[in-house]
Amino acid sequence: MPQPIREDPPPSPAGHDGDDAWYEGDLTPEAFQALGYRVIDAIAAYLHEVRDVPVFAGRTPEEVARLFEEPLPEHGQDPERILAEWSEKVLPNATHLGSPRYFGFVNGSGSTMGILAEALAASVNMNAGGWKPAPSATEVERRTLAWLAELIGYDPACGGLLTSGGMMANFTALHTALRNTAPYDTTPRGLQDPARTGRFLVYASDHEGHVSLVRAVDMMNLGREALRRVPSHDDYTMDVAALRRMLDEDRARGDHPFCVVAQVGSVNVGAIDPLNEIADVCAEYGLWFHADGACGAVGAMLPELRPRYAGLERADSVTLDPHKWLYIPYECGCVLLRDPDQQHRAFSMHAPYLRGILPDAHLGLDYYENGPQMSRGFKALKLWMTLKHYGAEGYRLLLRQNVRCAGHLDALVRADADFEALHRPIINLYCFRFRPARLRDAADAQADYLDRLNQQIADAIQLSGLAFVMTSQLRGRIVLRLAICSHRTTINDIERVFDELRRLGHRFDQEAA
Ligand SMILES: Cc1ncc(COP(=O)(O)O)c(C=O)c1O
Repeated sequence: MPQPIREDPPPSPAGHDGDDAWYEGDLTPEAFQALGYRVIDAIAAYLHEVRDVPVFAGRTPEEVARLFEEPLPEHGQDPERILAEWSEKVLPNATHLGSPRYFGFVNGSGSTMGILAEALAASVNMNAGGWKPAPSATEVERRTLAWLAELIGYDPACGGLLTSGGMMANFTALHTALRNTAPYDTTPRGLQDPARTGRFLVYASDHEGHVSLVRAVDMMNLGREALRRVPSHDDYTMDVAALRRMLDEDRARGDHPFCVVAQVGSVNVGAIDPLNEIADVCAEYGLWFHADGACGAVGAMLPELRPRYAGLERADSVTLDPHKWLYIPYECGCVLLRDPDQQHRAFSMHAPYLRGILPDAHLGLDYYENGPQMSRGFKALKLWMTLKHYGAEGYRLLLRQNVRCAGHLDALVRADADFEALHRPIINLYCFRFRPARLRDAADAQADYLDRLNQQIADAIQLSGLAFVMTSQLRGRIVLRLAICSHRTTINDIERVFDELRRLGHRFDQEAA
């Protein structure tokens, strides 16, 4: 319980003040408790059935929008009625990322501890932008970042911060990279110095380098072409010899290469670039080494996979997304930055109202000085509580289950003449194709047919509600793609989904014949 306030509080306004109406903004304690229990009951009932709910409602955007067409409420409404709308309108039109058969994007399932943490964090409503408005939230975040670093074999003395997601983590890393590697101080005039020439360039692999990197350089106004695409090998990892050639050519032209981004679990196939080789190049050329491990960095927690991550500890910055493969409820991204001073240099700015002017024993780490956001929610609580609940051991078991599921799916695909394996799964991301045996040697003319067929299969399984499988593109062709980021997915779920994909594939192929 909070301690009593130490001095007499000033008199507070109560009831009416002259002619000004006084509006009570809180639910009464009794109403809050009654409604709160109902909310908890609703969540518990939902969790009870989340394994079996149709994963996707299948309604059109117009149908869903129509449900929410209503005038702005001028008068307050009955809380019971508001809660009923959750059950009547919101929940039935949700997509259930918590289902064990949701495999879309790279979306995590949401831990149960995380759900409770969200409510607790909201109840106190600290602003984790500054130490003073959030002393414990700041220190929980700082501790959680050190734990994350330790879990993946990175230096726990690093800086970093939690972000809305991988996109903002990549942006934070690239902004810090540019500020700390540019051949002149970009703080006062940015890139708008007419005396300066040469483009600032970032490098990532061509097939799998994530689109968020394009947005990051775009947000930095470097132009989208500032992301240079390095050719990759057959296994989708970066060709480091090609990287060297590009760096030499670009430098000779007078440009400023400043950062290489390694994929650490690429978005489609989970490829992990040769991290030590890239770290060597960065050291040699004086470049920032950023590891985009939004999807896959946490795979380094598994001792059996750790050798693939050798060199990750040398990165200047690492993106990893707890709301992806650590199952934390949205939003929760993270960037780790090796040198907290460099991070501070990139973002620090002062305003008297933020810190006060004179020295104070209660000034601590202000995250607003170390990242793009000023006000920030207490995201760390859901991660801290979930990490304590599972422990490193529990997390390892869950991640291993997901990797095993991807391996099992690969085995099913390879054993079936009507499917085509496209890569070996490394982590929890897997792409493959339905390709009837009769089209095994299909000419290019039939490739379009196979594209359409696979898209049709993905659309149909989504609409069936059984599973949420999407397509993606690999080497220009449409493929089925599963991101297995649910702590609830079992081998049985994988087999059910595979059987259904096969059934749909045969059905559509026969209908087209
Ligand atoms: C490799 C990679 N980086 C960054 C991101 C962006 O993450 P977010 O959607 O959390 O912003 C993703 C998203 O899938 C990703 O796969």
